[in-house]
Amino acid sequence: SQVQTIEVQKVKAAKNMAFAFDIDGVLVHGDRLIPEGKRALDILNGDNELGIKIPHIFLTNGSGKPEKPRCEQLTQILGNPVNTEQFIQSHTPMSALAEYYKTVLVVGGVGYRCREVAEQYGFKDVVVPNDIIAWDPTIAPYREFTQQEAAMSRPRDFSKCNIDAILVFSDSRDYATDIQIIMDLLVSENGRFYTKAKDPVSQRIPIYFSQGDLLCPTEHWTPRLSQGAFRIGLEAMYRAMTGVDLERVVYGKPELATYKYADEVMTSWMEQLHGEEKLPENIYMVGDNPASDIIGGNMYGWNTCLVRTGVFQGGDNDENNPANFGVFANVLDAVQAALKKQL
Ligand code: G3P
Ligand code: MG
Repeated sequence: SQVQTIEVQKVKAAKNMAFAFDIDGVLVHGDRLIPEGKRALDILNGDNELGIKIPHIFLTNGSGKPEKPRCEQLTQILGNPVNTEQFIQSHTPMSALAEYYKTVLVVGGVGYRCREVAEQYGFKDVVVPNDIIAWDPTIAPYREFTQQEAAMSRPRDFSKCNIDAILVFSDSRDYATDIQIIMDLLVSENGRFYTKAKDPVSQRIPIYFSQGDLLCPTEHWTPRLSQGAFRIGLEAMYRAMTGVDLERVVYGKPELATYKYADEVMTSWMEQLHGEEKLPENIYMVGDNPASDIIGGNMYGWNTCLVRTGVFQGGDNDENNPANFGVFANVLDAVQAALKKQL
């Protein structure tokens, strides 16, 4: 009958669409749920007129925890499953670097969690700033180093080994110490402490940042400075010190590499859900940051939805990077509009 035909068409259309969600400022503020986020995910997880699941991945510039515990935490907060196979955080694609660098300095995050992240990615020898302070506390003159920190660190004689690359994984908890240590390495001879490079460029070890956001929405009433701000500060200091620009690589949204990675994750998640390894034609990205989510999604040919629950506080649409599908009060409105358009 006609009703059945319409139903079949709708199921077909539903199988040809998918969502990519930003997390901070769209689904949560810090650890606090944005209530419309739960409803939006309930709908995509089957609470819809067709009773079918609509694939979605999470593409966040967040960082600082291994994927598994972070997904467990998000599952709790969102009241909906967040599987590691549908989840990409800023440093996830950086696991590919493990085959190129043996000894790396990993910067950022709480305690020693980013060491854990890097080790899970397969990095063989992961150094964190505390290991260096434990070896030589005079390197960070303003740092109070506790006994507990000392007990958990892994000092060695860093004047006798080279660091192959610097990986900033997450927000620095101590700008003064982290910038000092990074700077020491950048001006050293091939990443060896207690040396000074004769040529600042050819002897400089590479530095990678997991994401470039200037601001991050949190529980605070206005967004907080994020890793991009840390990088800009470091770049300015490096230039003042050496007279040359710091070459660096940035991951995360809106970088192309991250969207390519998201494509792969989306393709295999489609297979998990619909049994066919094929990208849907209609991908909707829901984000709150025009300079990261929206510009990246636009460049990548996705339908972009900008929400008003995070970084964006402007008028009708963002002036520099307008969302091509529209601006919405929250993620639920965006999801409903996308479903209405496609089904
Ligand atoms: O800006 C840092 C990060 O927490 C942003 O996360 O989910 O908005 O990409 P997200
Ligand atoms: Mg966001």
